[in-house]
Amino acid sequence: MLSAPSVAAASTLRLPTPPSFCLGSDSSVLTTVNDPAVNLVRWQRSLPMALGSWLAKHVQAAPRTPVALRALSPDLDQLVGDLPPGVLRTALVTDVSLLLGHLLAISGAPVVHGSFGLVTGDSCVKFHTDYVALRLLCTYVGPGTEWLPEDSVCRPCLGEATPAGAEANAHIVKAGHRTKQADTGDVLLLKGDSWPGNANRGAVHRSPSLGPGNPPRVVLTLTVWRLP
Ligand SMILES: [Fe+2]
Repeated sequence: MLSAPSVAAASTLRLPTPPSFCLGSDSSVLTTVNDPAVNLVRWQRSLPMALGSWLAKHVQAAPRTPVALRALSPDLDQLVGDLPPGVLRTALVTDVSLLLGHLLAISGAPVVHGSFGLVTGDSCVKFHTDYVALRLLCTYVGPGTEWLPEDSVCRPCLGEATPAGAEANAHIVKAGHRTKQADTGDVLLLKGDSWPGNANRGAVHRSPSLGPGNPPRVVLTLTVWRLP
């Protein structure tokens, strides 16, 4: 017969911390972002190699000022209008439409702001959080976004003003912890500081450092600034 745990034993019992991120190979994983403990979701997937090669050849411009994509009539030509017509352009538009549909369904937002294009610099390589409700990222060409699980982050270090780049990251990433990274084609959903109840707890992430001589990335960003 089992005996009840003593008061002393119960007082020292530590429940495991729920994970701050969720991974899955099916799009259904995206809805786990509604779990209050989850800050980041990664849908692991592969895109046709031909699509990446085509984008690397034809995407010439940096992301423009984000355009408004309305739930009732999203105009995706605003995002990919410069790309030549053909089966791969259609494949891209179909994929972006799919991702937009997921984000609209999860957020209930009437409008999402989107940008698409080349990322060439190292301007966002310091780990940070975004002041948005929810952001979807998909890297179609090049290395994916890096992020940190909650137990790997020194939150107070995020606000330190002096160091930048690699020096800052050395403080933000707790000793002995490693960064995680999306693969090309993966979809990341990141909760920001403006998600209800998530102030000062946004998903900590950064753009990978490309380094001199490396080709640029092609990135889609879809942002929900506020939940309705
Ligand atoms: Fe960011």
